[in-house]
Amino acid sequence: PQTSKNQFSKISGPHKPYRDDSEQYSLKKIDTKVWDASKPGRLWNGPGTYEIPVELYAENRKRLIEQIHAKDPGKPVILLQGGDEIPFYDTDITYSVFRQESNFLWTFGVTEPGCFGAIDIATKKTFLFVPRFPTSYLIWRGPLPSLEDISRKYQIPNVHHKDNIASILRNLNPSVLLTLKGVNSDSNLLSREAHFEGIDKFRVNNTVLYNEIANLRVYKTDFELDVMRYVSDISSEAHRKVMRFAKPGKTEYQCEAEFLHYCYATGGCRHTSYTCICASGANGAILHYGHAAAPNNKMIEPGDLCLFDMGANYFGYCADITCTFPANGKFSPSQKLIYEAVLLTNTTVFKSLKPGVSWLEMHTLAHRVLLGELKKGGLLKGDVEAMVAAGLGGVFQPHGLGHLLGLDVHDVGGFIGAKRSDLKGAAMLRTTRELKERMVITVEPGCYFIDVLLDEALESAALSRFLVADVIKRFRGFGGVRIEDNVLITKNGAVSLTKVPRSVKEVEDWIAGKDSKTYH
Ligand code: GLY
Ligand code: MN
Ligand code: MN
Repeated sequence: PQTSKNQFSKISGPHKPYRDDSEQYSLKKIDTKVWDASKPGRLWNGPGTYEIPVELYAENRKRLIEQIHAKDPGKPVILLQGGDEIPFYDTDITYSVFRQESNFLWTFGVTEPGCFGAIDIATKKTFLFVPRFPTSYLIWRGPLPSLEDISRKYQIPNVHHKDNIASILRNLNPSVLLTLKGVNSDSNLLSREAHFEGIDKFRVNNTVLYNEIANLRVYKTDFELDVMRYVSDISSEAHRKVMRFAKPGKTEYQCEAEFLHYCYATGGCRHTSYTCICASGANGAILHYGHAAAPNNKMIEPGDLCLFDMGANYFGYCADITCTFPANGKFSPSQKLIYEAVLLTNTTVFKSLKPGVSWLEMHTLAHRVLLGELKKGGLLKGDVEAMVAAGLGGVFQPHGLGHLLGLDVHDVGGFIGAKRSDLKGAAMLRTTRELKERMVITVEPGCYFIDVLLDEALESAALSRFLVADVIKRFRGFGGVRIEDNVLITKNGAVSLTKVPRSVKEVEDWIAGKDSKTYH
């Protein structure tokens, strides 16, 4: 066959070649004289990134010790197993990049795979057990830290090789080993319980620890809040960059790439908290768009709304932020109608947040506000309370109002002391708890036009009476709006950690390049 240059010179596909015409990033110059990644007692990624003091984890352990000691004043020893690297199928590479198991990270602050940690409640001593690497690993991994190096890095005095775990634990003479076993209420997956050869010689109780740690994780310490503010700031900055970058002719994945680049290059955030959702146009109605079968690969078109749900992750701590904005910088009247309905829902809920408030009630409040606004906009008719009671909110917002946030994006503890709701439209809630000081929770109302849900509602006698069918019809293919903030519950109210343009004017001004309002 003839081979001509022509066969290879044209790249197929609708997109124009990518040209990075974004602004220069304000990368802080790294001073190599002070750069020391192994700064003892600090987890960080170098100058310009946040230095997490390992006291954060010492305080977590202190809280855990107090709680366990109050329940079992004997000689229990807590034993946790950290995460392992997971091979990529049958290959010798791993799913990169390693992420520590959240309960282990919360307790010990250790970011490496293959470790165990123990706490002797009676003496309050912490022990770390680490892999023993053969010296041949020097070639592949570089200098192998000694036990003293690891001890200094994490400020944990007792560090041993994990092949000694049975004998070291035996010497502690524990009344019981407390291991962690529980079902994650978001995934329904069982946590991995610590296991080592010889554990069968110990008395083990796996029924206590999971909920004890989960409940402590719900309430953030000052140390943790500092990290969460940092990761929220970086994520907010990245969202603001992307809002100006996204425009018709760019692809969704170029926007994703822009977000990832900013979070890592400027913030040192090597991970995101979940797969970026960069949905434009009709894709905005797909709640977790961006997965492998819908990988953020549509070209953004004029008239699209962009619904971008993206959050950086810094040493495990999560941000989870959604911005919705018009690709061409100006909301159309129908986009403005739905956007402002969702924004009013967001701000009404936010203003109601304080300790003692039930999240289930906030969810119902969100439905009430959203459905009321859709009625004012001519999409719905009838009594708003009757709509709420019939579960119509779940047709337009088929997800919960928000979830606890921390080391996991859908953080643990959502149903400790609380039950799932069987109210119509509330089944998808990830927590129904009463709010308390130091909880961090997302407020993420949304409104989506999802054909399958609209079709079902139109066929349902209980729901169709509220729908103005010919107006709703015009919104098919619209996509959706979600406005998601990360909120800290304080003594008397709440503060938002998210710093992005929100009102229609703020969003349009920001995209137009006006810097009249600052977001930091
Ligand atoms: N990004 C997933 C969520 O908002 O819960
Ligand atoms: Mn989100
Ligand atoms: Mn969320």
